Amino acid sequence: MSGTEQAAAQDNPDDGARRVIDTSVAHSARVHDYWLGGKDNFAADRAAGDAVIQAYPGIVASVRANRAFLARAVRFLAAEAGIRQFLDIGTGIPASNNTHEVAQSVAPGCRVVYVDYDPVVLLHAQALLTSSAQGALDYIDADLRDPEKLLAQAARTLDFSRPVAVMLIAIMHLIGDQDDPGGIIKQLMAAVPAGSYLALSQVASDIEAEQMAEAARRYNRLARETQRHRSHAEVTHFFDGLELLDPGVVPVPRWRPASELEAKARSAMWGGVALKR
Ligand SMILES: C[S@@+](CC[C@H](N)C(=O)[O-])C[C@H]1O[C@@H](n2cnc3c(N)ncnc32)[C@H](O)[C@@H]1O
Repeated sequence: MSGTEQAAAQDNPDDGARRVIDTSVAHSARVHDYWLGGKDNFAADRAAGDAVIQAYPGIVASVRANRAFLARAVRFLAAEAGIRQFLDIGTGIPASNNTHEVAQSVAPGCRVVYVDYDPVVLLHAQALLTSSAQGALDYIDADLRDPEKLLAQAARTLDFSRPVAVMLIAIMHLIGDQDDPGGIIKQLMAAVPAGSYLALSQVASDIEAEQMAEAARRYNRLARETQRHRSHAEVTHFFDGLELLDPGVVPVPRWRPASELEAKARSAMWGGVALKR
């Protein structure tokens, strides 16, 4: 039994519904962990992950390309844009190159707040919170759909009078239109001052469209959070009111790739970085 499975077995239902690790249905954090080759997933997660792989075999390359985008974006923000505060919402189960590792390798004084609502990610929070001595880290168990609460808790660690990079990496496709994803982003970006950035990636509906539509259908039958894939125009809309940096909203491997090889990775995700003037 893995550590996560033991924790699930010992889970105390009195802790409340959100703390219960429900292994009977696939959860996005654990399916993502499966695609990345991690160990924090259960049979239901692997079944949903495999169903997507059958519809869209490029998914493993795609999630890896997205992790590489995350690392390049954080490196750019810390090294070139001089950002020292990061609000990473939809952290996921720790993988390589977590935001604080990249940011603090550039500038050890970086302050990073992680946010996720998955109890398995919460289990890993302790391991995640290994900050450099000069910097600071916090983990918030909160829901992106309640930005006000999330921002209030993030203010324990981040100084919202100074620039913050808001990171929404591979999470917005888990926010349905009924939850007003554009409004959530506006609320987050209204809370940070000029000189702040938004880094965002989201699963595409218009890259390898037929396979992606079938992948969404299969995933949505098996998972707790359904996916809403979005077009290039819809993702670009998320950056309204901000100044998109070159090269704009592009397939994630093409956002400032480190090499020609990296740029050619298969991926059905749009990504971009924008500045709040
Ligand atoms: C696909 S993973 C992405 C992980 C990481 N950002 C990455 O790109 O590698 C999406 C994460 O978002 C989290 N998530 C989904 N909906 C959320 C919500 N409404 N509030 C907070 N976290 C959420 C999931 O639990 C999961 O860990």
